[in-house]
Amino acid sequence: MSIYSRIRPLAFKLPAETAHELGKGALRVAQSTRPTRAGLAAAYRFENPALEIERFGTKFSNPVGVAAGFDKNAEVTHALSALGFGFVEIGTVTPYPQEGNRRPRLFRLREDEAMVNRMGFNGHGMERVKERLQRDGLPSIPLGVNIGKMNTSGEREAIEDYRRVFDRLSPFADYVVVNVSCPNTPEEFDESSPEHLRAVFETIEVENDRDVPILVKIGPDSPEESILDLVDIVEEFELDGIIATNTTTSRDGLESPNQQEWGGLSGAPLEDRSTEIIRTIAEHTDLPIVGVGGVDSAESAYEKIRAGASLVQLYTGFVYNGPSTAKAINKGLAGLLARDGYRSVEEAVGADIS
Ligand SMILES: Cc1cc2nc3c(=O)[nH]c(=O)nc-3n(C[C@H](O)[C@H](O)[C@H](O)COP(=O)(O)O)c2cc1C
Repeated sequence: MSIYSRIRPLAFKLPAETAHELGKGALRVAQSTRPTRAGLAAAYRFENPALEIERFGTKFSNPVGVAAGFDKNAEVTHALSALGFGFVEIGTVTPYPQEGNRRPRLFRLREDEAMVNRMGFNGHGMERVKERLQRDGLPSIPLGVNIGKMNTSGEREAIEDYRRVFDRLSPFADYVVVNVSCPNTPEEFDESSPEHLRAVFETIEVENDRDVPILVKIGPDSPEESILDLVDIVEEFELDGIIATNTTTSRDGLESPNQQEWGGLSGAPLEDRSTEIIRTIAEHTDLPIVGVGGVDSAESAYEKIRAGASLVQLYTGFVYNGPSTAKAINKGLAGLLARDGYRSVEEAVGADIS
């Protein structure tokens, strides 16, 4: 029995956000000294050359990353690296600190291996995140920075928000993500309208003299046509990839009483929908895809890779499966690749699409 399987029932008695904060506190302690970091890495890292992959000019030692939202303020990137993740995406970072929505705003749906959140872009703001990255140094794995607008910003201000955060944090990033798909921030205007997206990308491009790769994170709830229109705009601006998907507002097929809470649903019930979107995008473009939504095992990661994802990320699967999640997925993935005669993840990307 793993330590986590003993701790989990206790942690799950606490409100979800309190448990998350305690978990992050433990990770902060674990990363605070060299020996504890090394101890974590010795216990949890899994290396295998077949898992290495290069995308948008960055080398990943494995394709399993931590999704945005887990470490919004870059507090535990070193611990996440030691736990064997191949990359970590911090954020969503906004220009100024924000409280987010009132608590409670994070709910477990245990029967469904899912969560609902309506955090609403709570965070420390870009200056504190920048100071922390400077003080703590960058993790040894690639770092993504997910950027967003203030909740109160209108359309014009939003563009300026993205520009400011990009300007401040892109020097630390292996890639930057423009997040236009959060279902639980106030809708001041249509963030995914082609006009708005074009204005955002134009502005960021002007700012991007270091040629930092830029990805766009999309939601799972738009019709296929709008998703493909967005992909066309991403291609038009020669951006570097798509992250699919954010959480969903759908509540289909759930059992847990917490399904009635409003917010974005993540975890197992999102798995098939996000894989379907990855497949649709991969059939339409050669842009790199980062697949996210319900990844909690080697099989679910492999399915997304075969559907066209070059990299995968997870949040909810980490909460349900604990610190050995990345190791278990990577070990299993290496086995699945070998079973199917692939020498590398690269060879398996998109294996299921025509
Ligand atoms: C509590 C919570 C907070 C999140 N915050 C963000 C965020 O700030 N920015 C973002 O792009 N996605 C955010 N997400 C979405 C995740 O990055 C991911 O897209 C989604 O949870 C689906 O993956 P999963 O099923 O592995 O959790 C958040 C998810 C959760 C559960």
